[in-house]
Amino acid sequence: MANFSSTDLFSVKGMVFVITGGGSGLGEWMAQAFDANGASKVFILGRRKESLERVAASAINKSIIPIQCDITSKTSLASAAAEIGSQTPFINTLIANAGLIGPITALPSVAGTESLDEIYTQLWATSQPDSVAVLDTNVASVYYLFLAFLRPLAAGNTHADSRGTQHHIQSQFLTIGSMGGLVRHADPGHIYLSSKAAVMHLTKCLSTDFAPYGIRANSIAPGLFITEMTGSFFVDGGKGMATKGALPKEVNPAMRSGSPEDIAGTALWLVSRAGAYVNGCIVLLDGGATSITPATY
Ligand SMILES: NC(=O)c1ccc[n+]([C@@H]2O[C@H](COP(=O)([O-])OP(=O)(O)OC[C@H]3O[C@@H](n4cnc5c(N)ncnc54)[C@H](OP(=O)(O)O)[C@@H]3O)[C@@H](O)[C@H]2O)c1
Repeated sequence: MANFSSTDLFSVKGMVFVITGGGSGLGEWMAQAFDANGASKVFILGRRKESLERVAASAINKSIIPIQCDITSKTSLASAAAEIGSQTPFINTLIANAGLIGPITALPSVAGTESLDEIYTQLWATSQPDSVAVLDTNVASVYYLFLAFLRPLAAGNTHADSRGTQHHIQSQFLTIGSMGGLVRHADPGHIYLSSKAAVMHLTKCLSTDFAPYGIRANSIAPGLFITEMTGSFFVDGGKGMATKGALPKEVNPAMRSGSPEDIAGTALWLVSRAGAYVNGCIVLLDGGATSITPATY
């Protein structure tokens, strides 16, 4: 007999999560959503201890556990995996959410309305090490993160205490890509957009290569959410695009930026029984913004 109860379908009771960048923005909201819905443990990783501790203290069910970690270091990743391994023999979902936006460039929204010299001067002035750091954080580190947690993820499919084994929820690697990895205009920057396209392709590759091992891989491609990363750029950066989350219809058909409920709802769907059949998928979460711009989705 099928069970269509939404409480059961979207339940994360007893599940174990690891979320990078859980000390702010989208990662914080996903961690709070899992905690609020009965997750057994939600490990949040990041470099700033105080941000992680603030989010852990906000957890209504006290399931959020801060782990200081710099994902760009294999040593730091291995020590985070060991620390988490001492607290749980398995994890159900690993979320690669930490990210870096890097050099922000503001090309004209109407192509060709600035001189080539102006564009060259702006783009050449960007820092090469800052651009490389974006590729490192958003792509290479995501790969090593996956490897660091591969064995506990596999254990999520076999361990007797894992909710996944009882509810047909295979372990999952969930990455946070971006609509920026699908659109063609260089806002907020060519390297950031390329890094997000790369991490979404990496996700598909992992979905294929690890399917035989029962490990799923999916990606969420968010549009604009006002967070630490985007707040100063979009609100104070003089573009006038987002005021208190409102957006003009020409920018976003939903006429607003994404909310904590938008990312929480999508994440709950993908990690629970409701999304258990989704694998190798890029879920666009942008209020329709990609639909009205040149894109490759
Ligand atoms: N906001 C948007 O509009 C939007 C749209 C599309 C995609 N995204 C993506 O969503 C993800 C979350 O971003 P956000 O908007 O929530 O911004 P955010 O609040 O700035 O979150 C980024 C998080 O990543 C962590 N982080 C960065 N480098 C790290 C490192 N080396 N090691 C460990 N943690 C690191 C940061 O923590 P520490 O600094 O403490 O390490 C921070 O908590 C990112 O991947 C971003 O690209 C955001």
